[in-house]
Amino acid sequence: MIKIAPSLLSADFAYLKRDIDRISTADYVHVDVMDGIFVPNISIGVPVVRSIRKITAMPLDVHLMIDRPVRYIKAFADAGADILTVHTEADTPEQITAALEAIRAAGVRPALSIKPRTSAEALLPWIRGISMVLVMTVEPGFGGQAFMADQLPKIRAVREMIDRYNPGCELEVDGGIGPDTAGLVIEAGANVLVAGSSVYGAADIPARIAELRKG
Ligand code: DX5
Ligand code: ZN
Repeated sequence: MIKIAPSLLSADFAYLKRDIDRISTADYVHVDVMDGIFVPNISIGVPVVRSIRKITAMPLDVHLMIDRPVRYIKAFADAGADILTVHTEADTPEQITAALEAIRAAGVRPALSIKPRTSAEALLPWIRGISMVLVMTVEPGFGGQAFMADQLPKIRAVREMIDRYNPGCELEVDGGIGPDTAGLVIEAGANVLVAGSSVYGAADIPARIAELRKG
C-alpha cells in the first residue's frame, strides 16, 4: 500500500485550507519547516502547524529542516504534529537521540531523514526505534528541483536495513517525485511518496495523487 504525502510548500499560503481540502484523497499532509540555517530558505513554523491542525483530520507529517531540532520538539508536538522528522545532519548523535526521545515522549511518531550526501549507514544507531525514514532525493531547501536518480541505490539499501531491523518502519522519499519518478522509488522500496510541485501543479489533483500511488 503506497501512501502519498503532498507537500504544502507548493500550496498557496494565502489559501492553505482550500489547498489542504484539495488533497483529501492523499494520506499525509507534508509540512516543510525551514529555518534559514540548516537549509538556505525560510518557510513556516509552529503557529502555522497549530492553525492547520484545526482544519484537517489528516495526519500532519512535519519535516523539520532546522538546526538543533531538539529545541522545538515539544512546540511542534503541542501544535499537533503526528509525525516529526529530524535530520541526522542537524545535531550531534547525542542530541539526535535526545530529539527522538522527546518526540516519543510527546506521543508523536519519530522519523529520521538523510540528505543526498549522507549514507544509509548513518541511520544505523537509531533504525530500530523509529517509525519512518525519509530519504531526500534533492538537496533540501526548495520545491520543484530535479529528482536525483543517484539516490536509488541508497533507497534500496535503506529498504534492506528496514526489513532486517525494523520491518514496520515506513520509507518515505522527498524531492522531485512525479509521474516519471514514482515508479522508480516504489520499485526501490519506498512506501510513502512526498510530492509538492507535481501534485499542486496538476490540473486534476485527485487524478495525479492516484497516478503517483500506482507508480
Ligand atoms: C524540499 C522539501 C520537499 C519539497 C518537495 O526541501 O523537503 O518536501 O517540497 O517538492 P517537490 O515535490 O516539488 O520536489
Ligand atoms: Zn519535505
